[in-house]
Amino acid sequence: MIIAPSLLASDHSRFGKEVERAERSGGDWLHLDIMDGHFVPNISFGPEVVRAVRPLTKMFFDVHLMCSRPHILIEPFCRAGADEIIVHVELGDQVASLVWKIKSLGKKVGLAVNPPTAIAEVQPYLDQIDLLLVMTVIPGFGGQEFIHETLPKIQQAEAWRRERKLPYRISVDGGVNFQTAAECARAGADTFVAGTSLFRGRNMRAAVKKMRQIVNAHDPALADLKV
Ligand code: DX5
Ligand code: ZN
Repeated sequence: MIIAPSLLASDHSRFGKEVERAERSGGDWLHLDIMDGHFVPNISFGPEVVRAVRPLTKMFFDVHLMCSRPHILIEPFCRAGADEIIVHVELGDQVASLVWKIKSLGKKVGLAVNPPTAIAEVQPYLDQIDLLLVMTVIPGFGGQEFIHETLPKIQQAEAWRRERKLPYRISVDGGVNFQTAAECARAGADTFVAGTSLFRGRNMRAAVKKMRQIVNAHDPALADLKV
């Protein structure tokens, strides 16, 4: 299971220290939310922030592009240090060429699906992606309430993965805390993006450890290790 602290929820006056804190706390990946003020009604940070924090950590950089024109951003973020680029299936006929471009740059490809979007929309791409990101809030802001109606989408994604023997990870993003992480793990998620619940608590290391214990308890791969 992967725990991916989301930098959006960190103290933006000290990104470097916050990235080091996320790594020290046991985070596996760093989730970097890129918002353009058009695809979502918010603006976050750009490639220069990614470039600045890249040398500070060995964590895998999971770059989530909530942007209307990602084709002009993919190369700058790859050059800045992204390991994976996630684009939204809501971009429609842009998606196929975006997937190709990310792959051509040697990076992992993620596809995100918003709560109102039918999970069937991602089916044509499932054999081309490394990660499916099931959004569990309407994207744009951290600290929102988890949308429980998204849980069946996780179950459906897991069923398709099992039936078609595909390797994509299933990630969840938005309102993920100890309670909702357990629900998502039970539904089939294996990657947990969490901002507020990890960066804003009293002790980030304890929060990461607790979330990992909770999700591992639902990990089928670990189930048969139980004595
Ligand atoms: C929302 C972002 C999420 C967000 C998660 O648009 O994609 O990654 O930062 O924030 P929390 O965990 O605080 O809900
Ligand atoms: Zn995100």
